[in-house]
Amino acid sequence: MSKLILILTAQILLLTATALAGKNGEDFARTINRKHLGLGKKEKLTHLRVYWHDIVTGRNPSSIRIQGPVAKYSSSSYFGSITMIDNALTLDVPINSTVVGQAQGMYVGAAQKEIGLLMAMNLAFKTGKYNGSTITILGRNTVMSKVREMPVVGGSGMFRFARGYVEARTKLFDMKTGDATVESNCYILHY
Ligand SMILES: *[C@@H]1O[C@H](CO)[C@@H](O)[C@H](O)[C@H]1NC(C)=O
Ligand SMILES: *[C@@H]1O[C@H](CO)[C@@H](O)[C@H](O)[C@H]1NC(C)=O
Repeated sequence: MSKLILILTAQILLLTATALAGKNGEDFARTINRKHLGLGKKEKLTHLRVYWHDIVTGRNPSSIRIQGPVAKYSSSSYFGSITMIDNALTLDVPINSTVVGQAQGMYVGAAQKEIGLLMAMNLAFKTGKYNGSTITILGRNTVMSKVREMPVVGGSGMFRFARGYVEARTKLFDMKTGDATVESNCYILHY
């Protein structure tokens, strides 16, 4: 009998503790039905291909180095350099082909023994039903490799709850100016 009372008391204490925990700063979060956000349906897989233009020279460069590399690495890996970009995304290789958005963000020299960049950028789309939607890319870009794969870590608008990856291939590289055009094939799961 006394054992039963003990168990009941313990359970009441546990319940009280749980109720108090709710009042102690957990009220801001709750589980909701995924249908509230239209997530009842199956995810879609979208493939999109854009050309990313890294223009570092001329009167209106879209890619500007704001911090040089650490001196020791300035001729090899560019470790420590920081470049801000607002690069045009076009439908085709020529830079005067239709612009569908901008790649805004930065890349940073993140490897000491090779050219390995950390890319952190949003692809902001400006046309059609994708106008205003973005995807966010955060990944490693070894620019000398034929194909570089980088994760798509999220998105907004049409691309809410996005995940996926991008395959980047350099199509044009001007040795004199450093300007580059990169084909980006994105594979994105979203609702
Ligand atoms: C793009 O530029 C090339 C060469 O400068 C020109 O021949 C072509 O007509 C242009 N295309 C468009 C769509 O403006
Ligand atoms: C994209 O959306 C912006 C803001 O709503 C609007 O000003 C612009 O005209 C739109 N562009 C296109 C091509 O629909």
